[in-house]
Amino acid sequence: MVPARHVDRVSLHVDGELIEVPGDDVSLLEVLRDRLGKKTPKDGCSPQGQCGCCTVWVDGSTRVACVTSVRRVAGRHVTTLDGIDPEVRATWTAAFSDLGASQCGFCTPGIIMRLAALDSARLGDETAVGRALLAHLCRCTGWKTIVEAAAAVSTSVSGSTRRDLASAARRASIESGGPQLVGPQVAAGGGGFADDTAPAGALVAVPDGRGGYAVAETLHEARAAAGKVQGRRSTAALRHPVEVPAGAWALTLATTFVEPAYLEPDASWCEPGGEPAGPLANGGAFGGKLASQAPAAARRLADEHGRCVRVVFSREDVVRLGPKRPPIAAGLRVDGTGIVRVARPPGSSPLAAWVEAVRSVLPGVDVEEVAVPGPPVSGALRGAGWVEASVLAAALDARRSGATGPGHVVEMRSPAGARGRAALSADGSVHLTVAGGQVLDEVVLRSYALGAVHQALGWVRAEGIAVDDHGEVLDLTIRSFGVLSARDTPSVQVVVEDDPGPAVPVGDTVLAAVAAAAWTAAGLPGRWPTQGGGG
Ligand code: FES
Repeated sequence: MVPARHVDRVSLHVDGELIEVPGDDVSLLEVLRDRLGKKTPKDGCSPQGQCGCCTVWVDGSTRVACVTSVRRVAGRHVTTLDGIDPEVRATWTAAFSDLGASQCGFCTPGIIMRLAALDSARLGDETAVGRALLAHLCRCTGWKTIVEAAAAVSTSVSGSTRRDLASAARRASIESGGPQLVGPQVAAGGGGFADDTAPAGALVAVPDGRGGYAVAETLHEARAAAGKVQGRRSTAALRHPVEVPAGAWALTLATTFVEPAYLEPDASWCEPGGEPAGPLANGGAFGGKLASQAPAAARRLADEHGRCVRVVFSREDVVRLGPKRPPIAAGLRVDGTGIVRVARPPGSSPLAAWVEAVRSVLPGVDVEEVAVPGPPVSGALRGAGWVEASVLAAALDARRSGATGPGHVVEMRSPAGARGRAALSADGSVHLTVAGGQVLDEVVLRSYALGAVHQALGWVRAEGIAVDDHGEVLDLTIRSFGVLSARDTPSVQVVVEDDPGPAVPVGDTVLAAVAAAAWTAAGLPGRWPTQGGGG
C-alpha cells in the first residue's frame, strides 16, 4: 500500500486566474515558468535575485520572483507582463520598440514591470528612472534608450511612427551577427528564447559540476540533484594574470578576465533524433555562445533518454563554463613595435584568429600566447584582437602627440568599413559619430552604438571577474561582473552619419573608439579596469 502523503497546496491568483499548486519549497519563478507556462518572466540568474529579469507584481508591488517563495504569496495576486492591462502593455512595448530600448529583449519584460509600477509623473524624471533601473541589468542597450522609452510613456509621445521593421531587423541582424527580430513582441519577451520554446513535459538537464549533467523531471529537481549551490560574489581583488614584458615602453596595458555577461543563460532543447534548439534566439551574445555546450548536450541526452530534454544553464554555470575575454599585457614603443601577450588558459579555443587580428593592426609587434590558470577564454568575442590592437594603436597615437586627457578625439575604421569618432568631455559625457553604410534603421543603429559605448566604458573602468591561484572563478554573481548601472552611465550623444556604402556593423568600431577615448581621457593608466572593478 502506498503510504498517504500530505501535500500542502498553495492557492494564488496569477494574471487574474485563481490557481492551486503544491506548496513545495519552490520559487514563484519556477511556478510561473515551469508549472504555469508563463514565459515573460525570465530566468537570468536565479536564485541570485540580481538581474531583475523575473520582476513581477505581487499585489501591485514589484517583486523579484526567483527569490520569492511560492508559499509566501499564498492568497496574493501575482501579475506578469502577460497579465497587465493590454493597453498599458501595448504602450510600453511600442515605446521600447520605437526607441530601440530592447535588443535581445531578455531583460525587457522585467524592466517594463518595474517602470510600469512607477508613478507616471516619475517616468520623465531621469534620476527616478535610473534609481528604479538599479534593480536590473541590461547588457545590450546601454540604458539610454530605456530612459527615453520611460519618458516617452510619461508624455504619451511615441518614437517613430512610420518605420520599416524589416529594415530594422536587417540592421539588428547585421549588428548582432545572427537573426534578430525588431518590434513590440521582442519587448514583450517574445524573442523565441530556447528555454521559452521547450515543450512542456521535457526532461530538464543542468550541468552537475563534474563535467556531466543532472537530469530530472523539473528544473527544481535537476538543480537539487546537481547539488547547485548559489554562487557568491567574492571580495577577492581582480588579478592581471599576464605580466607586462620588461622593457622601456611608451605605453603599457594589462587587463583581466572579462565576462561577456549576456543576460540569457545558455539553453537548448532537443527531441530524440532531432535538431537541438539554438541558444542564440534573438541576439549574438557578443560571440560568447558560439561554442556553447548546451545544444550538443540536449541532443545527446534526448537520444540517451528517448525523451525531449531541455538543457538549462544557471548563471553560475555560464560563468564557470562560458568563455571570457582574454586578459592581455602589452608594451609598445613609440615606433609601434613591442610585445602583446594574451592569456590562454586550459580549455580555451584557439587564438590564432585573435593573434592575426592584432598583427593586422599592429604589424610591428610580437604576439605571444601565455598559458595561465583561469577560465576558458575565446578568440571569437566581439571585435576579438582587432579591438584590443586598435585601442592600443589609438592610445599610442595620443601618447605620441601628448594629447591624453578629456577632449582627445579618437577615430576608428573597421576592416569592413564602419567609421567611428569618439571623445569624452571633462564631465565624462561621450560624443560619438558613427557611420556603417546604409543606415537601414537609425533607431536600431543608434541603439547598438549606445550598447557598445556602455560596454566600452564598463570594460575600461569597471569590468572583470576574480579568479584564484588555480584559475577557479570566484565571482559567480551577475552583479560582480562590473557591468555599469544606468546611474553610472554618463550622458552619450550619438550622431549617425549618412553613408552610401553597403550596411556594415558599427558595434566593434564603437567599442574600440570609445574604449580608446575613455582610456585616453583617464590619462592611459597601465591597468584595466581603471576604477578597480566590481559593479
Ligand atoms: Fe537588455 Fe538584451 S535587451 S539584455
